[in-house]
Amino acid sequence: MQIKVLCLLLVVLAVAVAVGIHSIMVALRAPLPFTVSVEYRGQVRKYPPEPTEGRPEGSDLQVEKEQPCGFWEIFINHNEGPGVHKWTHYFPIYEEHFGHFCRGRENLTMGEIGIHSGGSLLMWRQAFGEKLQLLVGMDINPDTKAWERFGPNVKVEIGSQGDPQFLQSVKRKYPEGFDILLDDGSHIPDHQFTTFVHMWEMIRPGGVLLIEDVHGVNPLLHWLLHGHSHENASMPGWYYPNDKETGKATEVPTDDGNRLNRAPMMAFTSLSVQREVESIKVYPFVIAITRRKVPLVDVQAIQHGSQWMPY
Ligand SMILES: *[C@@H]1O[C@H](CO)[C@@H](O)[C@H](O)[C@H]1NC(C)=O
Ligand SMILES: *[C@@H]1O[C@H](CO)[C@@H](O)[C@H](O)[C@H]1NC(C)=O
Repeated sequence: MQIKVLCLLLVVLAVAVAVGIHSIMVALRAPLPFTVSVEYRGQVRKYPPEPTEGRPEGSDLQVEKEQPCGFWEIFINHNEGPGVHKWTHYFPIYEEHFGHFCRGRENLTMGEIGIHSGGSLLMWRQAFGEKLQLLVGMDINPDTKAWERFGPNVKVEIGSQGDPQFLQSVKRKYPEGFDILLDDGSHIPDHQFTTFVHMWEMIRPGGVLLIEDVHGVNPLLHWLLHGHSHENASMPGWYYPNDKETGKATEVPTDDGNRLNRAPMMAFTSLSVQREVESIKVYPFVIAITRRKVPLVDVQAIQHGSQWMPY
């Protein structure tokens, strides 16, 4: 009996010591003095993760031909200093959406929500160079203010992406808006939605809002298409405004709602959502919403040629 109690006490003591060490290290932001290995689906994963060396085998980056910004090269060669943690299949997505800034002469402004250890800010700065006029990091951790030291074009705003007041204050402070807004924040669907609703206006013509880590059963895409509303944000939805037509396909859409697919006749003046939204592109874990560079105002279908089927 007494031995059992003693064993129990020892276990409790060991756990308390481990938790204590961990808390102290977290408080000091020091590296953990030990690593943890977990076997998951036949692969051994280590925490903290080991830095990636070279290209992962079988990576789609090997077949990706054009990499105008070279984000991947910057990433894999970044072995010292502020950390950056990314899914490898995001790099071609960055090249696709941000590449024209590296090819062209245009300057750009960028916002990044969730800047953590600062490594990604360094990556954007290195890739875009002189063209990066303004890089605004947003984070809930006040310590990230330190990353303003990366350069005069780096600003850090402290607040939550789920808080409309914070988002509105960023909008007021940077009225020039963003060519790129990368949402790598809390990854909570409610927050991603609040950020979209309040920040879409800030995306400049030809710009993109790229939402990362849309993992698991995440309703964000459904909300964009069907509409959604909560205490901090609301929108009617681009495909099925207010959810009216879910599951009921109609050949000729009815007139209501500011929707992407509304086509009342063969020539008409666009709705605001048709003017603004160029595309919604869905990748594994990522949703990219681009704003048209030139607004689509006159929507029309026209005919060319002289011979036609008799129907
Ligand atoms: C682009 O930004 C740089 C500063 O990053 C500035 O010196 C330059 O004048 C800007 N060019 C244009 C065309 O706005
Ligand atoms: C709304 O914003 C408040 C203030 O930031 C926050 O506490 C709350 O969790 C938010 N609600 C949702 C649904 O995101």
